[in-house]
Amino acid sequence: MCGIVGYIGKRNSLNIIFDGLKRLEYRGYDSAGVAVINEKNEINYFKKAGKVKELENEFNGEVLEGKIGIGHTRWATHGEPNDNNAHPHFDMNKNITIVHNGIIENFKTLKKKLTQEGYTFSTDTDTEVLANLIEYYYKSKNNFEIAVRLALSEVEGTYGIACMCKSEPDKIIIARMGSPLMFGLGKDEIIVSSDAAAIVNHTKNVIYLEDGEMAVLKRDSFQIKTIDDEDIQREVQQIEYDLEEIEKGGFEHFMLKEICEQPESIQNTYRGRINFETGEVKLGGLDSVKEKLINAKRIIITGCGTAWHAGLVGEYIIEQFCRIPTEVEYASEFRYRNPVISKDDIVLFISQSGETADTRAAMKEAQRLGATAIGIVNVVGSTIAREVDCGTYIHAGPEIGVASTKAFTSQLMSLILITLMIGKHKGTISESELKEIAKELKALPEKIKQIIEKRNDYKFVAEEFKDSKNFLYLGRGFNFPVALEGALKLKEISYIHAEGYPAAEMKHGPIALIDENMPVVFIATKDKTYDKIISNIEEIKARKGKIITIATDDDTEINNYSDYILRVPNTLPIFSPILNSIPLQFLSYYIATARNCNVDQPRNLAKSVTVE
Ligand code: AGP
Ligand code: GLU
Repeated sequence: MCGIVGYIGKRNSLNIIFDGLKRLEYRGYDSAGVAVINEKNEINYFKKAGKVKELENEFNGEVLEGKIGIGHTRWATHGEPNDNNAHPHFDMNKNITIVHNGIIENFKTLKKKLTQEGYTFSTDTDTEVLANLIEYYYKSKNNFEIAVRLALSEVEGTYGIACMCKSEPDKIIIARMGSPLMFGLGKDEIIVSSDAAAIVNHTKNVIYLEDGEMAVLKRDSFQIKTIDDEDIQREVQQIEYDLEEIEKGGFEHFMLKEICEQPESIQNTYRGRINFETGEVKLGGLDSVKEKLINAKRIIITGCGTAWHAGLVGEYIIEQFCRIPTEVEYASEFRYRNPVISKDDIVLFISQSGETADTRAAMKEAQRLGATAIGIVNVVGSTIAREVDCGTYIHAGPEIGVASTKAFTSQLMSLILITLMIGKHKGTISESELKEIAKELKALPEKIKQIIEKRNDYKFVAEEFKDSKNFLYLGRGFNFPVALEGALKLKEISYIHAEGYPAAEMKHGPIALIDENMPVVFIATKDKTYDKIISNIEEIKARKGKIITIATDDDTEINNYSDYILRVPNTLPIFSPILNSIPLQFLSYYIATARNCNVDQPRNLAKSVTVE
């Protein structure tokens, strides 16, 4: 999910690769590496956990000679982000070297097959399996291109790859399935990258690879084919952006980019983990505690900030669909209030960064008391991910904006997957319900896209309310935590005071705040609480508050109650917190930009709070 750079031409490849990798740094990553083939057809390489700068320092002035090379910045998905797991990876005979973005979903099956053939492995990555699989075919076919093709035809999952072969040192082979890859055409040279930012200072002429395609790149020629060996003709395109724009993928801020990435990040959370026909969920990382989860007498969820809000949604859905008593605690409170925890308890720790000190301290306390600690974490190999008893990664990809957006919706998706896994085995979710949920889950990325396409509508509402001093966010049931998260997003980046409340609780106090200057955001999508929400809206209207509603596309009744409506597609209640969060993210983003706030680095906040 991070970055690839490759070079083949007349110049020394190393500096070009380093320069490219540094231009991809904005994406966030955990380790980096390069491999270069020299004039004697030897492959030399360096790889290291940490920053590209640290990799460069490691060279200590030494230069790897070679006019063909590949490099990588890694965002670990399989195996800790240490030196050994950094890319490039090799087959066991060191004939093939590869850099890879994405996930080889069936790597365990492939690894088993290769192990039976006598192959050995020295890293924990899925990528190394692919290097060996290519070598396996190379041995019998003696042709690099055919070997790559045959290997890829066995791979399930997502990839952008660039690989080289010591026995055929005049080419780089690249391929793409679900992970971006392109190459720039210079004079007698080709620069490969997963991101135009690494190419644009060499050439603006690029060719974008499509899913299911591969290309054989030589110094002065290239050939594109499908993985099934059909020739492809592709027009050269012009990169139209300047460097800075590209580094945020053309978006003005990382936060906006990350909001818009949600169709993909959500998919990455469930990819390879659910059978869409039956709804059966398999979470490899939780295999060892599956029985314990199914038989749990209670579950405790903890985290901070946005992660805590995700936990609250978790409480609602686990209780609803699994009938297991579930409690949610602020990690910072849990640690110090002498919690009643026993060895039968299961505690879920939600953290994007996996480094939050309060969450880590809570984890230590739960483990000390004998509970089973399960992580729901984004950053692979982070402290919490390493220290929990077991866990599941949300695979949302690097989140750089301080205000969490795509990690939140992926945390919700992970909690849904856990819920489905437990519910099916406990029999608290029927087969037909499960199938219906799985079908809707598949449709979700498309529905998120529809919300993103409407983003200009939100600007208008943001403009209207950018000078407000206070905001109230109200929701019920599964969407009460969404109200809390909406309010937090607004506070964090626009510095407007905002409160989230259960909609019915409002009349027990906050209603005193309502006057004609108070905007109130209601999450009013159709579910069993809809009629009650309408009554709550009436209560606000009677006091002249301004009503902004999040409502489903087909809801005409809501027109009678709203001053402004942010529309979302219809979905099942279990998924409504995911869809409903997105307009709220946009609303806070556009209000903050209208107020000229620093959206990506709001004052006083840190992306990861590593102090208690
Ligand atoms: C979210 O927008 C916040 N910046 C913050 O609440 C964050 O969610 C919290 O600090 C927890 O971080 P974590 O998920 O990395 O543990
Ligand atoms: N799945 C590979 C790994 O964990 C690639 C990750 C990436 O996209 O950076 O090494």
